[in-house]
Amino acid sequence: METAILNDASLKTPAFILDEAALQANLERFAEIRSESGCMVLYSIKALPLQYLIELMKNRVDGFSVSSLFEAQLANELLESEETELHLTSPGLRAEEMPQIGRQVSHLSFNSLTQMEHFHELTENCSIGLRINPKISCLNDRRYDPCRGHSKLGIDINVLEQFNLPSYVQGLHFHNSFGGLDFNCLQRTLDRLWPFLEKHYQQIKWLNLGGGYMYAQIDQLQPFFALLNRLQQELGFQVYIEPGKSFVQGAGYLAATVIDRFVSDGKIVAVLDSSVNHHPEVFEYQTPATLWGRETGGYSVIFAGSTCLAGDIFGEFQLAEVPEIGERVVFSDVAAYSLVKANRFNGYNLPNVYSRQNEQLRLLKQYDYQDYLRLWRLDEHE
Ligand SMILES: Cc1ncc(COP(=O)(O)O)c(C=O)c1O
Repeated sequence: METAILNDASLKTPAFILDEAALQANLERFAEIRSESGCMVLYSIKALPLQYLIELMKNRVDGFSVSSLFEAQLANELLESEETELHLTSPGLRAEEMPQIGRQVSHLSFNSLTQMEHFHELTENCSIGLRINPKISCLNDRRYDPCRGHSKLGIDINVLEQFNLPSYVQGLHFHNSFGGLDFNCLQRTLDRLWPFLEKHYQQIKWLNLGGGYMYAQIDQLQPFFALLNRLQQELGFQVYIEPGKSFVQGAGYLAATVIDRFVSDGKIVAVLDSSVNHHPEVFEYQTPATLWGRETGGYSVIFAGSTCLAGDIFGEFQLAEVPEIGERVVFSDVAAYSLVKANRFNGYNLPNVYSRQNEQLRLLKQYDYQDYLRLWRLDEHE
């Protein structure tokens, strides 16, 4: 994206901007992956369930993956097609929602044996699968590790190996990676699961490898193709992947305006009309946001959000110039898990949502006070 965006008068901040050229480049990479590997590619809408994105993708992916009844309903409503595959796995299935979920999704991977036993008869139209917990941890931060001790995510492979798989189970699912930039985790996971997969290869039709790999950003895909080839050739599975983040990586920007500037304990603080609540992973991981389009230099500037939270800070940056009040500040790498987790803490509005296409900004979505009021006003009951 060009820095001219900083001066675009039609841009009202705070703003979340999706760069269509970057999205198209990611989609092309996935098209290559589909054709070279033979795997089916689903977009995991939890990363960013925006209509614009779902429409852009709908004819370029094999389907979508969802994690709740609402996500399933949203996908179906926006897709307006009964043909599209919708895969769901969740530890949060509720008994009363099951008949509806059964009508909304094409593939359902139960997260536990208890839920499988209770619910499988309520989901007649779905291809039924099980989420396996392979017990292979691939990251150090246990907050994001599905294979941590006492995990709630998936059925322990050691338990599953002792279990008689009911004949209605047609598929398997696992997801144990996070931001993976190579396929070592996948290799180790498949090594662990191979005897089980081999034992059930006649019954199992499909295997979903989950998300958690930055497929569109990894240069060396050969190890992935080799693993897939083995799964397809030796076991005959239809393999699925369901990335979220990788589809939108590099395509999202958060633009804000400096609304105040002062010195605090000897450092310059620039307060923005946004907050880390519009980019929650900055606070969650305690890593600075990625500043975009500004020259580095000798001035140290802290970019702070405008809420009452002391740690509402985007980071401290070394800049060639200290931004004035009224200037635009843009952060990149904001698309996945930002808008979808954004909140209105302190009563500040959510960002306006724009797409950027052929150097033009298009306003896609705007929130106003009525949306805020609707959240908090008591419902009228008769
Ligand atoms: C089951 C499952 N599938 C897919 C994804 C998407 O992962 P990512 O956005 O890291 O590719 C997630 C993310 O939490 C997940 O839990």
